[in-house]
Amino acid sequence: MQHLIRTADFSVEEIIELFKDAKEFKNMKSNKILDGKIIVTLFFENSTRTRSAFEIAAKRLGAEVVSLDVGTSSRSKGETIFDTVANINAMKPDAIIMRHSDCGLPGTLVEHVDCPIINAGDGKHAHPTQALLDLYTIREHFNDDIEGKKIAIVGDVRTSRVAGSNRRLLPRFGMEVVFVAPDCFKAEHNEHKQYDNIREIIDEVDVVMSLRTQLERHNEIFFESIQEYANDYCITSETFGNRDILLLHPGPVNRNVDISDEMLKDPRNKILEQVTNGVAVRMAILKKLVK
Ligand code: CP
Repeated sequence: MQHLIRTADFSVEEIIELFKDAKEFKNMKSNKILDGKIIVTLFFENSTRTRSAFEIAAKRLGAEVVSLDVGTSSRSKGETIFDTVANINAMKPDAIIMRHSDCGLPGTLVEHVDCPIINAGDGKHAHPTQALLDLYTIREHFNDDIEGKKIAIVGDVRTSRVAGSNRRLLPRFGMEVVFVAPDCFKAEHNEHKQYDNIREIIDEVDVVMSLRTQLERHNEIFFESIQEYANDYCITSETFGNRDILLLHPGPVNRNVDISDEMLKDPRNKILEQVTNGVAVRMAILKKLVK
């Protein structure tokens, strides 16, 4: 049985096959591939895109979806996450999709379930389905020719599971990943070049991925106001000029902090295309994993 905990769980060849299916599924036609299957979503952290995209993907494939409302579940009575998952597993679902704030938790649960677990984001660690839809969007934009392309991931790299998954995935497809962040948000490792300001690198990049400033994941207050951060790291029309660069963001966007209102209307931003691709890629993932 195969799970999706991190992007390394799929080989390059498997991802290319996955994307062939996703391309077919992008017409958003419903089918019966997972007719009779039941998929459970367990979101212990909030979500708009990932949860809805998975639910729509499952329903487009003909599966039934059960979404545990964590707020009204027996977690509030003190049940541990392991017991919650053991009980859901005992109901014999065909897959469990989970998001939790603990890094590595979905990976530790795979030994204790009888169905695939799909990691929908675990703390600061990984968000594999986001990285896969990001890669799909980049390949689609460049007609699959991304060898040697450079991406600048801008913002709160340190706590971003999206940055974590993309920095591991994109180089497997020939892309160079660099980070742009203030010192307080820089990655704590030196596996990628890190810059202080997007202006240092903007002429060299093909893709900019802006990240949400995840102040809730830091214990310290680094800025007098969020405007202080935005002055240097918000992606604006001035940042991009007339350059031919693809602009991505995993969402939710903090308007005029991560990306300006103006750039959110600019055709170089493919943020909603990422969201559409998120359904198609997740349909392909469910088709691959749910047996
Ligand atoms: N990209 C992403 O994970 O968005 P949500 O938090 O809304 O799911």
